[in-house]
Amino acid sequence: MRKLAAGNWKMNGTQAALAEVSALAQANPAPGCDVLLCPPATLIARMADLARGTAIRVGGQDCHAKASGAHTGDISAEMLVDSGASHVILGHSERRTDHGETDAQVHAKAVAAIKAGLTAIICIGETEAERDAGRTLDVVGTQLHGSVPADATAAHLVIAYEPVWAIGTGRTPTLAEIADVHAFLRARLTARIGAQAANVPLLYGGSVKPSNATEIFAIPHVDGALVGGASLKAADFGAIIAAL
Ligand code: G3P
Repeated sequence: MRKLAAGNWKMNGTQAALAEVSALAQANPAPGCDVLLCPPATLIARMADLARGTAIRVGGQDCHAKASGAHTGDISAEMLVDSGASHVILGHSERRTDHGETDAQVHAKAVAAIKAGLTAIICIGETEAERDAGRTLDVVGTQLHGSVPADATAAHLVIAYEPVWAIGTGRTPTLAEIADVHAFLRARLTARIGAQAANVPLLYGGSVKPSNATEIFAIPHVDGALVGGASLKAADFGAIIAAL
């Protein structure tokens, strides 16, 4: 199973931020570890140029389910590939909240992304109210079932578990809580796509930083991280990559 450190820059970064890519290119990921940066769409092509020949791969943060057409402001999976992307984040909780994305829409986007040759990083996670109500496994199980195409293969799929209440807050679940959810997700994914679920990286996301990365990466069924704020600076993200 390959491991993955993925950085999600969200709506942060102009051309000047590309200096971080050159700095990060010095980071030497251990064999079997992949490094991915998902900048805003405006930076993908230039970042892909800068990353060529390094260990860094580049991804998008969303794509449309259609290949082209009258969808002002949207970007297709084919356009991401054309810009040099290898991955795309889908169903991030900020898109589910800000744009009302449903599991069915995330599923349709994942089908389009995989068809275009991208690896789909499908995000799921419970809100704080859902966790307090004891509904975490129910919520993430439903999201996983509804968002992941049943015929997805391990070659083109990554799952990111991001508790909504842990994103950008500095709070994280306990290590035991993360372990419980990831073991559950492995079993649910096996029920959804079969035995190859064993080879699909399961990322944890939500306030991952250099100081907690080592203990989080030691949890069974945690195969890497989807990192927001701490991926914006090469020094922090480089330390997380080193912990993987
Ligand atoms: O997609 C990554 C993200 O939502 C986590 O953000 O800033 O808590 O690492 P952050």
